[in-house]
Amino acid sequence: MDIVICKDREQAAHMVAGLIDRAIRAKPDTVLGLATGATPILLYKDLIRRHRDEGLDFSRVRTWNLDEYVGLAPTHPASYRFFMNDQLFDHVNIDKANTHVPDGMASDFEAAAAAYEAGIAADGGIDIQVLGIGSDGHIGFNEPTTSLASRTHVQTLMLGTRLDNARLFFGGNLDEVPKRAITMGIGTVLESRTAILMAFGKGKAQAVAAMVEGAISHMTPATALQMHRDAKVFIDEEAASLLKNIDFYRAVYADSPLRALEA
Ligand code: GLP
Repeated sequence: MDIVICKDREQAAHMVAGLIDRAIRAKPDTVLGLATGATPILLYKDLIRRHRDEGLDFSRVRTWNLDEYVGLAPTHPASYRFFMNDQLFDHVNIDKANTHVPDGMASDFEAAAAAYEAGIAADGGIDIQVLGIGSDGHIGFNEPTTSLASRTHVQTLMLGTRLDNARLFFGGNLDEVPKRAITMGIGTVLESRTAILMAFGKGKAQAVAAMVEGAISHMTPATALQMHRDAKVFIDEEAASLLKNIDFYRAVYADSPLRALEA
């Protein structure tokens, strides 16, 4: 696991955008796995700027989002499809037909989940998976006790997750937050060629410490990334504040080619 402790979230967004930018220029039909939430917003702004000012071409890029609330239509302002259109897709030259978000309105979720997995496979698998982390250590919407080998499935959400997300996307109204979501599984995420997890702020420090330094456990689903062949973690100082071996991570980074992304 590469651990990059950034000056601030702007620097993290810049570095991750740089990594995605290079990937797309090298392979124009790059397959991106994308995340929602507050964490990737600056990343998406940076990608939009690169498209607008630096010719970054999304015309052949394909995307697969991590998750969607069960029961929210794509037109619902708190749906993840709405978020993705609003925060990224509407502002770059991506073909919407090449963008995928699980269907929160599916009539048969088992079939929808299987089709989602088959679609990712047909696209050749995910090259770069972007992830945030829940304060309980979830990735996508894979809550504690989800199988670390899980595939796309419907997941019941923990109260704490619903409270976190009520604050951000539902005007603080818990009753509005769906109780279930359809999410890529942890096994799905582990198959991506590169996984990039971003986390910012004190509220993520505990989950980050558990993910990086804790034992692999379904109680902290993000610890599964310890098994990923190429996981990179971009965090700010606050999110890094509970890491015990922080000096070591800084020393490793001092010798890392990832430093080139700072430019
Ligand atoms: C939701 C999403 C996750 C995201 C998490 C953290 O639960 N399903 O993919 O990582 O929220 O959100 P935020 O970035 O707003 O802290």
